[in-house]
Amino acid sequence: MIKIVISFVVMVGVFVMSTTQAAVTDTGVRVPFKEAVGVRLFKKNCSVCHGEWAKGTDKGPPLIHDFYKPSHHGDGAFYSAAMKGVKAHHWKFGDMPPVAGIQQRDVSKIISYVRWLQQANKLY
Ligand code: HEC
Repeated sequence: MIKIVISFVVMVGVFVMSTTQAAVTDTGVRVPFKEAVGVRLFKKNCSVCHGEWAKGTDKGPPLIHDFYKPSHHGDGAFYSAAMKGVKAHHWKFGDMPPVAGIQQRDVSKIISYVRWLQQANKLY
């Protein structure tokens, strides 16, 4: 009996996790649960300059922009930007400093989320 109760609780837990949405974007699209960590890491590390939904601020450019599609700035550009910084070349915001303490695995989650967000905004 206990085993049945436990497996029922586990099944409900898995069901809830697979259907729970992390957040709703500015365009009203629900962020899939698998991007939840990426959303959190982006907000913590990138949104101060790139904006809450990557549409840019007065400190940094939008990442929802043709420049930053995979065909123009591949994932390598994201790893390099986050870990080594960027010399200003496309915009007039100044250089992007390296993001202190960020790990490669964090950037992987952020890239997955930003690519999802770019597609949700019909960039490609
Ligand atoms: C302090 C502000 C700031 C923060 C924080 C910041 N960026 Fe940037 N980022 C910039 C600016 C400014 C540029 C534009 C440089 C230019 O003129 O091309 C930029 C450019 C980029 C580019 C383009 C790189 C290229 O090769 O042209 C990527 C990708 C990027 N940022 C990703 C990120 C990610 C991911 C994070 C968080 C982990 C982040 N940025 C955090 C300011 C910031």
